[in-house]
Parts: sequence; C-alpha cells; structure tokens
Amino acid sequence: MVRILVLGSGAREHAIILSLLSERAGHEITSAPGNAGIAADVPVVALDPTNASVVAQYALDNDVELVVIGPEAPLVAGVSDALRNRGIAVFGPGKAAAQLEGSKTFAKRVMEEAGVPTGRATRAGNLEEAVEAIDEYGSPYVIKADGLAAGKGVLVTEDREAAIAHARYWLGYGSVLVEEFLDGQEVSLFLLSDGHDVLPLSPAQDYKRAYDGDAGPNTGGMGAYSPLPWLPDTFVDEVIDTIGLPVVRQLEKEQTPFIGLLYCGLIATADGVKVIEFNARFGDPETQVVLPRLETPLSELLLAASTGGLGRLPWPRFSNDVAVTVVLASEGYPDEVVTGRPLTGLEDAAAVEGVHLAHAATGRTEEGYRATGGRVLNVVARAADFAAARERAYEALGRIRLEGGHYRRDIAERVVR
Ligand code: AMP
Ligand code: GLY
Repeated sequence: MVRILVLGSGAREHAIILSLLSERAGHEITSAPGNAGIAADVPVVALDPTNASVVAQYALDNDVELVVIGPEAPLVAGVSDALRNRGIAVFGPGKAAAQLEGSKTFAKRVMEEAGVPTGRATRAGNLEEAVEAIDEYGSPYVIKADGLAAGKGVLVTEDREAAIAHARYWLGYGSVLVEEFLDGQEVSLFLLSDGHDVLPLSPAQDYKRAYDGDAGPNTGGMGAYSPLPWLPDTFVDEVIDTIGLPVVRQLEKEQTPFIGLLYCGLIATADGVKVIEFNARFGDPETQVVLPRLETPLSELLLAASTGGLGRLPWPRFSNDVAVTVVLASEGYPDEVVTGRPLTGLEDAAAVEGVHLAHAATGRTEEGYRATGGRVLNVVARAADFAAARERAYEALGRIRLEGGHYRRDIAERVVR
C-alpha cells in the first residue's frame, strides 16, 4: 500500500487514479483539486496544485509517499523541486527539465545537442524575421508560440496571410517559432524516465482537430486510440534509441535530470521518426486509452521512475485488447465555451459493456452533474478489436445528454477500414 497524492483535475488524472485503484495493493489515494468524477472515487482536497509550499506542506502533514503530477503548470512552477527538496518521491520533472515542454526553444536546443531528429525551425523575435522564415520554409506553414499556450499556440495552414497573422498575435507574448512541415502519421509515445533509463508505454494516436476529418481548430485533444496496429515492430525501439535515451542522457549531463513522463509527440515521416514536440507529463486524452490496457502495476512504475532503478525492470506489459476514447466537449469548444449545463445519462453510458467514463470538466450539484468547462468527459471503450470498441464508445455517447455538446464521430475509424 502506498499513500499517493495525484495533482490535477482532468480526465488524465482520473485515468491515472482509476489505474492505481485497479491494483490489488489497495493504495490510499487523494487528489488535488480533482473533479466531480474523481471525487466519486477518491477523497479530494481543495488546494492549488501550482502552489509549491502548500502542496509540500500537505504532503508532509499527510505522510504522502508519492506525488504524481498530472498537468504541466505545477511542473513549470517548480512544485516537483519543492517536494524533492523535502525528501518526498515525486513523479514529474523539476522546473528546469520541464522546459522541454515549457519552452520550444529549449526543446530544440536539447534535441540539437542530443542529435535527435526533428523538423528544422527558426526562432523569430519580430514580424520581419517571422515573415522571412515563413517564406523560406513555404507552405504548409507551421507557426508556434514559444511558451505554454494550452494547445492554442500552434497553427498549421496553407494560407500565408493567416500564418503571418498568427505570428503577429503571438509575438505580442514573446517569440515564435516557424517550422518545417513534417508529413506523416502522428504518434504519441510515453516514456517513463528515472533521469537515466526509460521504459516505454504502449503507443497511441491523438485527434487534435475539433471536427471530423481533421477539420477545424486545434484542441487539447478530441479522442485517441491504442495500440497502433499499423506501426512497424521496430518503432518503439527506434524512438528509445534515437530520441528518448539521447534526450534523457543530455538532461542528465546538464544536471537537470528528467524524472517523470517524457511524452514524445512524433511524426512517422518517409525518412524516419521525427519529433514534433515533447511534453513533460502524461498526454490527455492518450492516457485514457494507454493506462486501462496496462497490466504492470502503475504504482510500481511511477515509484521506480521517481526513486531510480527503472533500468532493472522489464518493459511494462499491456493487454491484447484495444481501447478507444472519445471526448465530449461543451458547445463552442475550443473557442467560446458555454458551461454550466446539466449532464445526464452517465450511468446508462457506463453500463455499456467494456465502457467506463473519465471525467474532465464536471461538477456536482444537488440536481446532478454539470459541465464546467470545454472538454467535459471521456468515454473510454475497450474491446477485442477497434470496430467493436468504436461501437461501444458511440453507443455510450448516444446515452449522454448535454445541450450543445459535441464530439468527433471518426475516432479510430482509420484503423477499422
Ligand atoms: P504541438 O502543440 O507542437 O503538438 O502542435 C499541435 C499539432 O500541430 C500537432 O499535433 C501536429 O498535428 C501539428 N504540427 C505541429 N508541428 C508540426 C510540424 N512541424 N509539421 C506538421 N504538423 C505539425
Ligand atoms: N494530447 C496532447 C497533449 O496532451 O498535449
């Protein structure tokens, strides 16, 4: 039994908690601040997960043995450092290593030093430099805000004027990166890291655009599936050898070890796997399809990563079935979100065979659940194959009612055809 505190309030954190609860060990789990779905499963505490001293004091007062950090904000705020300095095991990199996600310039620099394959990129500090780079790389244009932008900082477009307008907007907040467009299938691969060694989880694919057929604006993620049956067998080894280990060893050398989850956002291009981005945490919604299939106890992996010794463990085991998740979003998401509306039918949805729900932006009143934000919840369906998993997921979604709610109908469709 381990006393574990999970920081965060999304469906990713709900998925982490459900995975920990499924272990035989019977852990004592609390979540801060959690959400209504999480609160139905474990105790939640209303503390600010980005306030390092508050989190550390809570962990000390409550004999927490492991803190798992879900979102990027506490990482970038240095919460891991504060906990580690007080001798508390924490799954999540310190502020310095979290720059791999927090600063695209930092990530590009580390990749360059480690010899990691990625698209060419130019940093622009003013509009003139940006336009020059836009014309140098050509269409399709890829423009990125340099800091954390909650998934809204990236524009991929064939419209030169739109590319320039996007650069102009984000230059108001700092520098922008203009990147070479990488053509190919996207893969999210999660690597557990203890600062020296890495262990892979099962690959997943995320659907980032808001609407069917990859139309509409970028979002935090509208659905995902795992595993990826179309990947070559050598894929994971290639990513570990050419990307994961070089980056982790580079950060170790710089004395800012990466302890936590190295999220590799990849494109399988015609000339090898290339990095589009790193995140310093579990991906959302990919976690919701990766962890349910994990057969190795998650707590053992997180503890080994946090305290060292991942290299002595075998690769995590996964079940042979498949998982599909579809995100139910509020009206207007990802732009002007309409929230506060009643959310019903959840029990009926979860009653579909192989289906469970991971809550994101839900709240509870005396009258029942309400949506409290953009991505409201995830329907997660498991089955022997993707056709069956999709059928279960959409059957369950059909039982949920949220006025104005929307979701993509084509999640995992490409692996069924
Ligand atoms: P990011 O926030 O960097 O993950 O970018 C969001 C999305 O934009 C990615 O998931 C890709 O679909 C797309 N994207 C980002 N960078 C590139 C690139 N260099 N080439 C092609 N697509 C990209
Ligand atoms: N699914 C994309 C992310 O977690 O950043």
